[in-house]
Amino acid sequence: MTVTARHTRIAGTGSALPPRRLSNADLVRQLAADGIETSDEWIVERTGIRARHFVDAGVNASDLAVQAARHALEAAGCAAEDIDLIIVATSTPDMVFPSTAAIVQRKLGVQGCPVFDVQAVCSGFVYALTVADAMIRTGSADTALVIGAEVFSRILDFKDRGTCVLFGDGAGAVVLRASDTPGIVATDLHADGRHVDILCVPGTVSGGQILGDPLLRMDGQAVFKLAVGVLESSARTVLERTGRRPDQVDWLIPHQANIRIMQATARKLKLPPERLVVTVDAHGNTSAASIPLALDVAVRDGRIREGHTVLLQGVGGGFTWGSVLIDF
Ligand code: UT7
Repeated sequence: MTVTARHTRIAGTGSALPPRRLSNADLVRQLAADGIETSDEWIVERTGIRARHFVDAGVNASDLAVQAARHALEAAGCAAEDIDLIIVATSTPDMVFPSTAAIVQRKLGVQGCPVFDVQAVCSGFVYALTVADAMIRTGSADTALVIGAEVFSRILDFKDRGTCVLFGDGAGAVVLRASDTPGIVATDLHADGRHVDILCVPGTVSGGQILGDPLLRMDGQAVFKLAVGVLESSARTVLERTGRRPDQVDWLIPHQANIRIMQATARKLKLPPERLVVTVDAHGNTSAASIPLALDVAVRDGRIREGHTVLLQGVGGGFTWGSVLIDF
């Protein structure tokens, strides 16, 4: 009996950024008007961030998701009606329910396929990719759309300079196709719920009221320390699973939160800094959107080419983290 293994390949990538771009200088000016002191020097030195994009009123995560999805579909040469699975990773959904994926499905005019959101904060995209890969390999889907889409500007406290300078809005998407050849070669997901409190939006909606605090709260140093440790160990796990060495990774695309965390991971893996894809300078931290946004940038500017091996790494609230190793 011949058993043909099913694998998952990335057939196309896409992304979307809202047109309103705020440089650090723009944000410094805006915050100063409310008596909040910060500076371009502090933001660049501590995070590597130089600018971010914010949506205008009335624009939601699904709007950015649909734009990114259309670009990915075009790159894959795929019609919307070929999609048989949609997963959206987001912590800033359009509504409490239904899922943002359902809204994306309607806006794309796709009918009948399963759709759902994944909530794993900044690890959301690697979680969503891992779930989609499993569904493709087991035959539940042939052509999947996996999207990370966020409007974090909606949940920022612009009186808290320790967090409001860090985040931005955006979306990134990939079209995945079943294939005889890999593709996604290894995945690794983790969470440690003991650290729920270090990065959270602790509020909720109850009885028609907002109960608790509806804005993002973060213990930056605690997140920083955890992130540096888990990214290295997860990278080593996916590499060991495939019998590969770190120097066989052509491109490292970690969650884009802080250039210092990203560079520390590259250093620990002894990867030269040129193999690190960096978009945090231009986008800020776009949570679940940051990895597919960076991936799309590096695919479109020609850095990532067929035959390359790419390591995607998410880390964030939960506390969650994980890696996906892909042969392009
Ligand atoms: O997306 C999920 C993953 N998230 C992350 O990976 C974020 C991880 N954490 C970080 O990236 C860093 O911890 C931050 C960038 C958030 C903060 O950098 P830090 O080097 O850990 O700074 P800190 O929080 O220890 O603050 C140092 C100083 C404090 O002043 P004092 O107490 O030393 O006088 C802060 O009040 O910097 C001050 N500060 C600022 N100053 C100017 C905090 N925010 C600002 C600001 N502008 N925006």
